[in-house]
Amino acid sequence: MTVSKPHGGKLINLVNETMPVDDNVTEIELDNMALSDLELIAIGAYSPLTGFLGKKDYENVLHQMRLSTGEPWSIPITLAVNESLAEQLIIGEKVKLVKDSVTYGVIKVAEIFYPNKEIEAFKVYKTNDREHPGVANLFKRPNVYIAGPITLIKRPEKKDFTNYYLDPVETRALFERLGWNTIVGFQTRNPVHRAHEYIQKTALEMVDGLFLNPLVGETKSDDIPSDIRMESYKVLLEKYYPKNRVLLAVFPAAMRYAGPREAVFHAIVRKNYGCTHFIVGRDHAGVGNYYGTYDAQKIFSHFTSEELGIQTLFFEHSFYCKKCGNMASEKTCPHDKENHVILSGTKVRQMLKQGQKPPKEFSRPEVVEVLIKGLQGTFTKI
Ligand code: ADX
Repeated sequence: MTVSKPHGGKLINLVNETMPVDDNVTEIELDNMALSDLELIAIGAYSPLTGFLGKKDYENVLHQMRLSTGEPWSIPITLAVNESLAEQLIIGEKVKLVKDSVTYGVIKVAEIFYPNKEIEAFKVYKTNDREHPGVANLFKRPNVYIAGPITLIKRPEKKDFTNYYLDPVETRALFERLGWNTIVGFQTRNPVHRAHEYIQKTALEMVDGLFLNPLVGETKSDDIPSDIRMESYKVLLEKYYPKNRVLLAVFPAAMRYAGPREAVFHAIVRKNYGCTHFIVGRDHAGVGNYYGTYDAQKIFSHFTSEELGIQTLFFEHSFYCKKCGNMASEKTCPHDKENHVILSGTKVRQMLKQGQKPPKEFSRPEVVEVLIKGLQGTFTKI
């Protein structure tokens, strides 16, 4: 096997930083999610998308989890504007895509349509509960969607971990250079703990390389900030991982918290970065109790492995078992629950914020130290 073919067959590139833009054209103000989506479309991470979705693709994605051309696609990538701006837009015109007075791109308006957000919420998030962070964001955005092909004319500025931004074309070239034929992708938005390490290393036993790809776009306010998470990853890699088997790079997308649907999206995007395999553990991209523990694994049965083009590696809920003296899961451990070291994400966040150390069976002490210092604002970056 060689590095995966991009989704749809061709890696999209819509970056043109020298393209002249007429100052007098209408502007659309982007939110953080739309800005990150714009960049991810342009650099090919969302191949085969070439712009924000039109109505036909949007409805196909909601109802069939496919683009109208048939490729699997599970999350609608949309550009929302308010009604008064939508009324001024003309089909066929080029409009600037702006954030905080900086022009990042251009969209050629192909369609203007009203989504039914209740249906979108139920289809994508399986709920219309406004307490769900993804649903809340959906309803917070304006009510009209603008579709059309985009061009990125300015890369958004990278303030943190500037060395860790790699485009799909770069990760693909790196994988080739490293001689890795099989690469497993790992998505995460949380501080790294031993269960993550266990499933990553178990997967790595089967493939040539591990692509650690923490999401650093917008997350909900109580998630651990990405700069702290990245520091914890750097420490972990330095102390516990072989250097020649891991590539760490950030994934600049916003988190949707769409559980199963987002797992499919995460897998497809990592295929575009060149991965051949993708890890899906328990409650991938989930939040609260909206999704069943393994829903994000079951959803992949809607697709054949050929059309997905990336092999999923499913992991059961993993934990440290005191009797086994090992990391394990229900699949490999015969002991009772009281021997298992399991802490919820919420509990761990509370402990860290209060400067309390989770046990070493749960989290590597070096990682805990970075997380506590990070949350207290006193760490130095390595
Ligand atoms: S996510 O929202 O990005 O999925 P997180 O960073 O917690 O959240 O998880 C990253 C990946 O590790 C996901 O595939 C998730 O299913 C998996 N995972 C996290 N914790 C465990 C665990 N204890 N056992 C098995 N898989 C896990």
